[in-house]
Amino acid sequence: MTIAPTRDTATALFTALTGAEPAGVWSAPGRVNLIGEHTDYNDGFVLPFAIPHRTVAAVGTRDDARIRVTSTFADEPVEVSLDELGELFPTPSGATPAVPEWAAYPLGVAWALLEAGASGSGLDIALASDVPVGAGLSSSAAIEGATASALNDLWNAGLDRTALARIGRRAENEAVGAPTGIMDQMASMLGEPDAAIFLDCRSLEAQLVPVGIAEAGLAILVMDTRVMHAHSTGGYGERRAACERGASIMGVPSLRDVSVDDLVRAEELMDDVTFRRVRHVVTENQRVLDTVAILREKGARAIGDLLVASHASMRDDFEISVPELDTAVETALASGALGARMTGGGFGGAAIALIEQAAVQQVSDAVTAAFADAGFAAPVIFTVTPAAGAHRDA
Ligand code: GLA
Repeated sequence: MTIAPTRDTATALFTALTGAEPAGVWSAPGRVNLIGEHTDYNDGFVLPFAIPHRTVAAVGTRDDARIRVTSTFADEPVEVSLDELGELFPTPSGATPAVPEWAAYPLGVAWALLEAGASGSGLDIALASDVPVGAGLSSSAAIEGATASALNDLWNAGLDRTALARIGRRAENEAVGAPTGIMDQMASMLGEPDAAIFLDCRSLEAQLVPVGIAEAGLAILVMDTRVMHAHSTGGYGERRAACERGASIMGVPSLRDVSVDDLVRAEELMDDVTFRRVRHVVTENQRVLDTVAILREKGARAIGDLLVASHASMRDDFEISVPELDTAVETALASGALGARMTGGGFGGAAIALIEQAAVQQVSDAVTAAFADAGFAAPVIFTVTPAAGAHRDA
């Protein structure tokens, strides 16, 4: 995959809007999460990596105090004054943003930067992306990361990558209204080729862990079910509330503070549904730690069972899978995958499979055939390798 077409599209959009060349071009990637799902907002552990698919922001300054965004997501640009951002955001809880949703991401980033003390001139922003939308691959974090990187440079805000990830998360939580954690923004900011990011979501300490997938003769297949999900509504927030309930019953600040051994007591104290939500998070945290240890000691070939256990936990205990995701995972495993699991927030989106490089076509064909047999819409299937995080491109 090359970024050139997306960069050309963003630059052309910018020029069509303004009649000028952009001051610069920045980009940020989507992500796949190898393991550690719904652990981030519980102060736990995650192991995502950035993917080659990116969002590009072509940006220029203006000599007034207006901000105008255009994109491949919609036909109409959106324009507001910088002063107005504080009236538009935060979006009240449960409401939809006062601007079209796609525009709430870049405008939310500008708002969050102003809130953090940054200041600067008005801006024109043109966004183009090849990150699949609604696929659980963090197309939103890619928009936030590209925009935040651009504005950080053009407004001389001097924020580091972790601070920019926090800005992106604030835009997502408070401008868009999706109650997500920080994993996606950190993955998009910190990604490196060939490495996953082992992130402690309590301290935000991040370690790069070489995954060695290609060296082991393996590939990561993404199976996008095309079942669209949105985390600003419904199930995601309910799962989050159940985790908070579980932590409060256990008398701890977050489920990070509950160990696998504590689960016996947890089962006695809470109703069945809350207990199963808690058990998923607690065992998933342990699976992330185990995956990191195994990657370091034995390599990628040995992590398959942990991926499979993670999927079962999300399907049975956290109940965030859907039949299409289960079919993708089961078919990949039946056709020789070493491991497979849904990735991202769930309720749709994509699953990943760890497979032999030589089996890419065979597993893809088997999953496509299984979807047709089940009467599901055709999946979109492709391989990914860990890629670089947000940066300036030109
Ligand atoms: C979405 C959210 C993340 C994380 C995952 C689930 O991707 O944006 O913060 O909670 O779901 O692991």
